[in-house]
Amino acid sequence: MDTSVSRQQQDRLIGELTEFLKIPSVSALPAHKGDCLTAAQWLVTQLTTLGCAKVELIEGPGHPVVWAESPKVEGKPTLLIYGHYDVQPPDPLDEWITPAFEPTIRDGAIYARGTADDKGQVFCLLKAYEASRGADGLPPVNVHFLFEGEEESGGRMLSNLLEAEPWRVEADVALVCDMSYHAKGMPAVYTALRGMCYAEIHVRTLQRDLHSGEFGGVAPNAIETLCRLLGDLKSEDGEIQMPKLYKQVTPPSKAELKSWKKLPLDRKDYVEHQVTAKAITGLKHYSIFERLWALPTFEIHGIIGGFIGAGAKTVIPATATAKVSLRLVPGLTYTGTLALLKKAVAKAAPKYAVVEVTSVHGSDAVQVEVDHPAFAVLDAAFKEVVGSAMVRKRAGGSIPIIPELGRAGAPVILTGIGLPDDGLHSPNEKLELEQLWTGIEVFARFFEMLGETTTDVGVS
Ligand code: BES
Ligand code: MN
Ligand code: MN
Repeated sequence: MDTSVSRQQQDRLIGELTEFLKIPSVSALPAHKGDCLTAAQWLVTQLTTLGCAKVELIEGPGHPVVWAESPKVEGKPTLLIYGHYDVQPPDPLDEWITPAFEPTIRDGAIYARGTADDKGQVFCLLKAYEASRGADGLPPVNVHFLFEGEEESGGRMLSNLLEAEPWRVEADVALVCDMSYHAKGMPAVYTALRGMCYAEIHVRTLQRDLHSGEFGGVAPNAIETLCRLLGDLKSEDGEIQMPKLYKQVTPPSKAELKSWKKLPLDRKDYVEHQVTAKAITGLKHYSIFERLWALPTFEIHGIIGGFIGAGAKTVIPATATAKVSLRLVPGLTYTGTLALLKKAVAKAAPKYAVVEVTSVHGSDAVQVEVDHPAFAVLDAAFKEVVGSAMVRKRAGGSIPIIPELGRAGAPVILTGIGLPDDGLHSPNEKLELEQLWTGIEVFARFFEMLGETTTDVGVS
């Protein structure tokens, strides 16, 4: 069947995607709770229009989960599609050329928060499903759709649901489209995803804020204490000061390291235009890919404390808090890393301060075997439509629910249609329309080919 997207269809699809992107479904901000519900309802309407046999909006204390089942096609494998409809906050707002929730097309790309991460990619899969249906409206495979609205904010809605109802991840293959090509024309499949350990470090040095003239010179300053402590947690050349952490890491195999050496990377362009820095940091004896994919990281995301209003206030702050996270590579678990962080913080804390670490959220690192026949089917679809098979790489980012998706034995395919310069979480996030159109074609072909190879991929 011809699954390519005609000009006329493109106009309709841009209209539909624009509607979806206009909804400011920022899961982290309580003010946008209603918008998250609206985005979930938008998906419900789409899935219903696509002829799904069952469509559920599962509500709870957090943002809703959307579940849908295609009409049953006997004898065909079941594909579980996961994605997220929530997005990151759009700030800093004044850096957007056009507003974050007013999708705009410029130079062949659509700009808005969520274009690449992940609404545009979710949309791609919905439209691939649409294109792959036969004249009778039936898809070539059984598809289960699972969309959440708390991926970006570490919510528990989906993990709680899957714990209570593990049957939802029973499938022959799971597909996650929330990542990017390695470079233009070079689609990618991901063999690992970093995990995360997000925490807050609270420091109290005084019972109350003090006059910095009356007490300056004797009173311990909470922000200063926090800054020193944070400085103690990582050396200037990038080594996290938790020796046990590195000992627990499962190093990449020789073959994997060798394959990373072959991945193209224009170092100058990468540093200047993607990292946007004068120089990069990190452990010098490791390549950029090793630093991104094979080593844990420690980052400070924000510091709260003291006086930040206009003008000056001469105060010695009594408390300060830092939001920090460690990215975890294979071998590292959320709980194990949290314990190491607590230990390191306790060790670095001076006697005069009360220091506490509270956990915010986390997930274990994931490693994926990509030898299952379903990966070869997707490779064939990419070869047919894009002209190249997928390169194997790892992901620097995290998707906390991924370990749960594979619990019932389904191989989890981690891939995507974005490009490395899409600007996820940044101002002017974009998705190139060409990536979307070819993506729809690739996944439509993938569904068709998967339907033709039942004996190879079927486990249920
Ligand atoms: N889609 C990203 C994860 C990603 C980014 C994978 C780049 C591969 C390459 C996802 O939406 C994301 O941003 N995840 C968060 C999770 C966190 C809030 C727990 C992340 O990685 O920071
Ligand atoms: Mn995402
Ligand atoms: Mn994201």
